[in-house]
Amino acid sequence: MARILLGVSGGIAAYKALELARLATVAGHGVRVLMTEGATRFVGAASFEGIVGAPVLISEFERDPLRGAFPDGPRPEHDPIGHLELAANCDAYLVAPASANTLAKLAAGIADSMLTTSFLACTAPRLVAPAMNDRMYANAATQANLATLRERRVTVIEPDEGALASRGERGRGRLPEPARLLARLEAALPAGHRPWDGLRVLVTAGGTREPIDPVRFVGNRSSGRMGLALAAAAARRGADVTLIAANVALPEPPGVRRVDVETTAQLAAAAGAEFSSSHVLLMAAAPADFRTTEVAEAKLRRQDSVDLRLEPTEDILAGLTAIRTDEQTIVGFAAEHGNERIERAREKLTRKKADLIVLNDVSDPSIGFESDQNAVTLIDPKEETDVPLSSKDSIADTILDRVGQLRAEAGLPAR
Ligand SMILES: Cc1cc2nc3c(=O)[nH]c(=O)nc-3n(C[C@H](O)[C@H](O)[C@H](O)COP(=O)(O)O)c2cc1C
Repeated sequence: MARILLGVSGGIAAYKALELARLATVAGHGVRVLMTEGATRFVGAASFEGIVGAPVLISEFERDPLRGAFPDGPRPEHDPIGHLELAANCDAYLVAPASANTLAKLAAGIADSMLTTSFLACTAPRLVAPAMNDRMYANAATQANLATLRERRVTVIEPDEGALASRGERGRGRLPEPARLLARLEAALPAGHRPWDGLRVLVTAGGTREPIDPVRFVGNRSSGRMGLALAAAAARRGADVTLIAANVALPEPPGVRRVDVETTAQLAAAAGAEFSSSHVLLMAAAPADFRTTEVAEAKLRRQDSVDLRLEPTEDILAGLTAIRTDEQTIVGFAAEHGNERIERAREKLTRKKADLIVLNDVSDPSIGFESDQNAVTLIDPKEETDVPLSSKDSIADTILDRVGQLRAEAGLPAR
């Protein structure tokens, strides 16, 4: 796990940094927190200290009781210069929230606090998460400061759009949710420090097509977006990802190995070939449940009287879980509708021997297949969790967080 430096500057969203520190600590990272004086007007250092188990530093003239070490790390014999030691020891440095004032200082190279001085001295990956009123964010000065930081290879985590702290105002400036911040931070960590380093993840995406004739098929509306988001999220965490893409028109995420298939039988064969060497299976593809009993050799003409007969295709998930081992974590997806959808998904969880079912309510047209957004319910043997409407990227991170928890509970490597 990694040594993370968390800089907190003065803004309303500083309270979210407490949750970020908690999530990072629970995830096994060693976290040291640096606050600006301004930040201490919004949240107390004692809360961070309780969460991360290490003193918070504010002034560059303060002595660090831990001598620049991270929680559980070795402490040097001598008393080093605090800001240099912390900057040298960290694997990544995230400033969240980054106020307009602190961003301006970081862009200008001002070093007048523990946070800013360490930022200047840090050669590890550096990230900033701006959070402020939308007019402050849109201001040319803030935008120029962010451009300068980007040019200097600082990763800027864009703020979300939505309700702002000032009453009744909406706009771009919200600090993303802590779990998203942690996912972005972990994605920036050097190899060897990412949480899913060494984990092999198999993702299926898209919808299979069963031919009627050489140009027509029986298929479904799955675009593959959810599977792509899962593949990208797993790759960001350091996993070796194989994506089996069934008729997916979109490009695969960087670093992901892609296998293209068309029919359910091809998907079953490709998944079967990859499954035994995978630690995690994320079965997001929507296989066609039926195939035509006969495929016309030539293109059917309008004048032809066509009587389509369909037969069920193989149950890929059930086929794979029948040969699963206890070291594997298997996530199935269920597209259901109606009042009994939870019971049907739960029944699928048990019948198919999966560890988690991600339930999509296909009766809601605002979510699902071709949308960039989704809302799902996560169902595992113990509990059900509703994940409200959000981007497929965010849903993917929530699903992987749950996979990590399930693996940890089962005593398996990687979260
Ligand atoms: C109630 C209140 C809320 C504020 N919220 C923000 C904010 O969300 N983002 C921001 O950039 N500044 C915000 N400010 C202004 C900063 O706190 C101010 O610019 C301060 O000097 C920042 O100092 P620092 O960057 O050293 O932490 C807020 C100020 C007040 C009084």
